[in-house]
Amino acid sequence: MIICMVPCLDDRIKENNNFTILNYQGSKKNLIDFIHKHIDNLIIPEKAFLDIFAGTCAVGYSYKSCCPVYANDLEYYSYLIADSLLNNYNNYNFNKIKKEIGNQFKNLYNLKLKKYDKWIIAEETFLESNKIEDLIDLYSSYPTIWNNAEMILDKKQYILFTSYYAGNYFGIKQAIEIDCLRNLIENIDSNLFSMLISCLFFAMKNCVFSKDGHMAQPLDLHKNASKLIFKRKNSILDNFYSKLTEYFSSEFINTNFSNSAYNMDFENLIKLKEIQDNVGLIYADPPYTDMQYSRYYHLLNIVSKYDYPKPTLIKNVYTKGLYTEGRSQSLLSQKRYCLEHFSNLINFSKKYNKNLAISFAYPNDPILQKTDRYVMSIEEIVRECTKVFKEKNVNVVSTKYNHSNNRNTQTKKVLEYLILCKY
Ligand SMILES: C[S@@+](CC[C@H](N)C(=O)[O-])C[C@H]1O[C@@H](n2cnc3c(N)ncnc32)[C@H](O)[C@@H]1O
Repeated sequence: MIICMVPCLDDRIKENNNFTILNYQGSKKNLIDFIHKHIDNLIIPEKAFLDIFAGTCAVGYSYKSCCPVYANDLEYYSYLIADSLLNNYNNYNFNKIKKEIGNQFKNLYNLKLKKYDKWIIAEETFLESNKIEDLIDLYSSYPTIWNNAEMILDKKQYILFTSYYAGNYFGIKQAIEIDCLRNLIENIDSNLFSMLISCLFFAMKNCVFSKDGHMAQPLDLHKNASKLIFKRKNSILDNFYSKLTEYFSSEFINTNFSNSAYNMDFENLIKLKEIQDNVGLIYADPPYTDMQYSRYYHLLNIVSKYDYPKPTLIKNVYTKGLYTEGRSQSLLSQKRYCLEHFSNLINFSKKYNKNLAISFAYPNDPILQKTDRYVMSIEEIVRECTKVFKEKNVNVVSTKYNHSNNRNTQTKKVLEYLILCKY
């Protein structure tokens, strides 16, 4: 086994350790230096670093050149991002892959044109001439499962986004591009699946017509006309290629460590023998509010699984977010259960001799700022940690940070805490 080099801060500074796929709620990509400064000395030589609530794997990836990294998340899209970031691509021939994608895309797109060319031409014409009302009329006459419940889908045709999300979250051409890319990703080396689909996530994030690149619900077409034109002119294919190029650039970190990505509820993950045996430090950045991540990024799971899910109906009405069935619901995003279940991780870490570093963001001023959506308070977590690890082994540090707030355009001022527990 390769020995963990501690500390790795100096090496890391020379690298570009931010490799961004999404604008993620609670992402730590801007706090990497603060995190390394305080937790590098908790890494145990010869043991793995576990990013147990990985999200975009910003923290796990930043340790890729230091030690073996394991990453886990309940959300499938997150697992795919982590898998792509923890893999290596230095043995692949980029030009060959790019050429193969180019050829396949051309063939698949030309086939689609036979059926959809009149829609694409109309959309392009209205976009070029800024005819917003015509564009909106076009979208309302375009058949999707939401306005044409009788629609029969030939599932072998790769038409999920074309039939579900053209005219709302995406344009017609964009949705067709997504379906063609998803189709060809299936035909290319399966070891590249997570990387290629992450390139598609990146493209979707940049083109989606919703707030801040999140996908909780499409924006109102009438109220956001200039954004609509701007977003719809963006090409899924160009964005896909730009991220693909980055994966094969010298900016991307390739190493010889054995890394692993998991897609499990953390309470099941910690039952695995390889986690109990191989991990030295657990980095835990759990959800801190009652917002379910599956709501904000559902389209990423849909494009990955591609299983034509049934639309969600509430009181016989489709949801504003055009959600579908099967979204995961984490107990950690529920106030009633969060602390009890999170405590299982604290107890596990102590019992199995793991160091534990917990990230938690909490309002700067809990009296003046709202805390009602928070699932735990910082005091509760610290109390639980000191009960299990004992006071002398727990250290708390914090830094001021402004989180983007998806409800308001204003940022939310928080203290970013690290609760450091030594076993
Ligand atoms: C605050 S985010 C992590 C952000 C991450 N550190 C980053 O920089 O992108 C919390 C993550 O916990 C995941 N999560 C929530 N409940 C979970 C559970 N029960 N098991 C595993 N992961 C869970 C969410 O899907 C989400 O990605």
